[in-house]
Amino acid sequence: MNIILLGPPGAGKGTQASLLVDQRGMIQLSTGDMLRAAVKAGTPTGIKAKAVMDAGQLVSDDIVSGIIGEALDALSAETGVIFDGYPRTAAQADALDAILADRGRTLHHVIELEVDEDALVTRITGRFTCGTCGAGYHDSFKLPKVDGVCDKCGGTDFKRRPDDNEETVRTRMAEYRAKTAPILPIYEARGIVSRVDGMADMAHVSAAIARVLDVE
Ligand code: AP5
Repeated sequence: MNIILLGPPGAGKGTQASLLVDQRGMIQLSTGDMLRAAVKAGTPTGIKAKAVMDAGQLVSDDIVSGIIGEALDALSAETGVIFDGYPRTAAQADALDAILADRGRTLHHVIELEVDEDALVTRITGRFTCGTCGAGYHDSFKLPKVDGVCDKCGGTDFKRRPDDNEETVRTRMAEYRAKTAPILPIYEARGIVSRVDGMADMAHVSAAIARVLDVE
């Protein structure tokens, strides 16, 4: 099964994708994570992407669609994929259709996480991750069980994203409204969009997504 998780910054795409990986053995393809890895490694793509990401704008369609195609080529055709943060523009939606068709894959579901944008600023500015294993935490909603120690790997080095400040978050939301939300009708016309209340707690969001995926 191949699915897209769609929603503005902080809607919980990464959180729910990670739960689906644990629950269903699917693979999460997050363009944001892949771009951040490229920035960290100092690759030519990372060097081009860094300033754009730090400003909260979108990296070029060719770069991200290229990354997605390469990532899919490394997977067997049977492996279920969660697209997290991709596609984000009409051009990326077209590119994804071609990428999937070339690889004999079908898109089964587009799940839109519906959220209140004002609450998202709190969600995003409060989040941090383990610098060793990438596990996600939040100052208010999800602290490590032992203060300063990662639940998953025992790491003690935590990081915050440079684009997680309020000003950049507002720019990211404006980009979502202008360029990403308008792609939903493409998928609505195919009858594959489901809407889930992303403001519910994480377990309820996860259960609502499971109900969508288990219909088939
Ligand atoms: P990306 O990394 O994709 O960031 P984003 O879309 O802005 O999404 P986030 O990761 O901020 O949010 P999320 O929805 O995953 O929420 P999360 O689960 O972490 O992209 C970053 C940048 O890369 C872009 O700005 C752009 O420059 C570039 N880029 C990436 N993809 C691109 C593309 N396709 N094209 C062009 N450029 C691209 O949750 C947030 C917090 O809330 C967490 O702390 C979590 O614990 C908490 N939380 C989650 N769910 C709940 C809940 N139900 N209740 C309470 N708290 C919750």
